[in-house]
Amino acid sequence: MRKAINPGAVLALVLLILIGGCDSVKVTRCFTTGAVASGSAVASEVGSEVFRRGGNAFDAAVAVGFALAVVKPQAGNIGGGGFAVVREGQTGQVAALDFRETAPKAAARDMYLNDSGEVIENLSTVGALSAGVPGTVAGLHALWEKYGTMPWEDLVTIAAELADTGFVVAVSQAEMLSDYYVPLSEFPETKTLLYPAGRPPQAGDRLVLKDLAGTLFLIAAEGPRAFYTGHTADQIVACMEKNGGLITAEDLEEYLPVWRRPVHFSFDSLDVYGMPPPSSGGIILGQMLKLLEPYDHSSFTSRSPEQIHMFCEAARLAYADRAEHLGDPEFYDNPSGLLDSTYLAERRRKLPLETAGVSADVRAGNPLKYESDQTTHFSVCDTDGNMVAITVTLNANFGSRLAVDGAGFLLNSEMDDFAIKPGHPNLWGLVGSEANKIESGKRMLSSMSPTLVLKGDRPFLVLGSRGGSKIITAVAQAIIDCSRFKLPLLEIMSRPRFHHQWLPDVIFFEKGGLTEATRQKLIDKGHEVRERSAYGGLHMIMIDASGLLCAVADPRDEGAVAGY
Ligand code: DON
Repeated sequence: MRKAINPGAVLALVLLILIGGCDSVKVTRCFTTGAVASGSAVASEVGSEVFRRGGNAFDAAVAVGFALAVVKPQAGNIGGGGFAVVREGQTGQVAALDFRETAPKAAARDMYLNDSGEVIENLSTVGALSAGVPGTVAGLHALWEKYGTMPWEDLVTIAAELADTGFVVAVSQAEMLSDYYVPLSEFPETKTLLYPAGRPPQAGDRLVLKDLAGTLFLIAAEGPRAFYTGHTADQIVACMEKNGGLITAEDLEEYLPVWRRPVHFSFDSLDVYGMPPPSSGGIILGQMLKLLEPYDHSSFTSRSPEQIHMFCEAARLAYADRAEHLGDPEFYDNPSGLLDSTYLAERRRKLPLETAGVSADVRAGNPLKYESDQTTHFSVCDTDGNMVAITVTLNANFGSRLAVDGAGFLLNSEMDDFAIKPGHPNLWGLVGSEANKIESGKRMLSSMSPTLVLKGDRPFLVLGSRGGSKIITAVAQAIIDCSRFKLPLLEIMSRPRFHHQWLPDVIFFEKGGLTEATRQKLIDKGHEVRERSAYGGLHMIMIDASGLLCAVADPRDEGAVAGY
């Protein structure tokens, strides 16, 4: 039965949020009916309100997704794409939804190279040519169509109202908008959209997005049609024509999200469900956890040099496979042997227990032998066992930096996630090969890893993160901290993250995250260790044996939880 939200209540909610009357700015809290952990207090509160009105986790996720497109214009979006891994409580079925961007029909393998075959700087990362055909609106609609119980219009209207009335710019957002003022101002549409006063907003200023509100009201009333064949489609095509992009009316009209079978594997006593290609998330997470599974961790502590070493060696092997073997399954035959136990046993033999491996000596394996038949993240779940992990992205902050004139939103720069030239690192330092070359209509390989974990039939974890190539290792660390080191939620969130991705051959760790002794031990083992700023935005919900929904949001992302 579809329950209507009365419009007065929507307005009251928006006002409540605007005057700061909600008490949802919490990093962790437990709930009994429904919980949301996201990178925005406002968006989490929107989800909580949907629960209060009787909606389920899917209704809340749709409303949160659109709210993030308003209050996090740097990442939340309708001009980008994403992935979801979901579980329907009633049937226990787990499904994966791919609403990744596609390469426009006119895209070609060497479109970012000059006549000498060199990469043309910034072409795949900035401006109209860097954008893939957006998938978010179709994706959220597909999720709602299959599992939602409340009217679509009501769920999208909450975000439209938020854009219409505006939202208060947070401290970190003001800093980011200030940092990006010069590059974003190169695009007049973007300058008008994000800097209406002609200067970066101060923290506490209100940012009103009237054009975005207009677009969202249309999507609320007409559904995805408005975006893919209606008024918004016309605006996107006009933007492409004006700025030299490739997306056509036909590209938009033909865009379809795809339901896929999730990657499923066990780790310890847990059942893990991850995103299949065109995301590498599920398979690489699976490889890392399965490579590590047989090793006894009881003599380690979390973040000890021994644990970091083993984890990074597993990451080195898994990311080497990522670079070689993964791409859009409609275009490239992803080897199913990548998670085969015999293949992983063979790979595990290459895992050096004491001293650092050398990436130059490590190559992708040959899983073909083992073939058998077979960037903002948010987590939502409810007491009926519905679980929703969704990661959406524009790629870099503010995506292509190009806003669609009159439509109020930014387009993604996802084309850079293709291997634009073999061996050329993308924005996240990842290299790729034939499997992920640019082809017309193809989806670019991703690292996004929305993940669900079950204990037997019981919902246990809903998680995922932002962070480009570092998403997969962040999710893996959270699962290991939970399963092996039995750390409490807040501790899992506050432990410093570390990362290895085969190339470059370096362990990255968050600034201040390692003691000098640990760092020295890793160096003694032969690792190069490099500090970097804090990263990721891992928002997670743990469901305890009594069914209590305990949510934790990542403070690195100014995240907040809310629920009911
Ligand atoms: O799909 C991917 O793997 C990247 N486009 C994700 C980018 C990302 O996570 C940005 N977050 N900080």
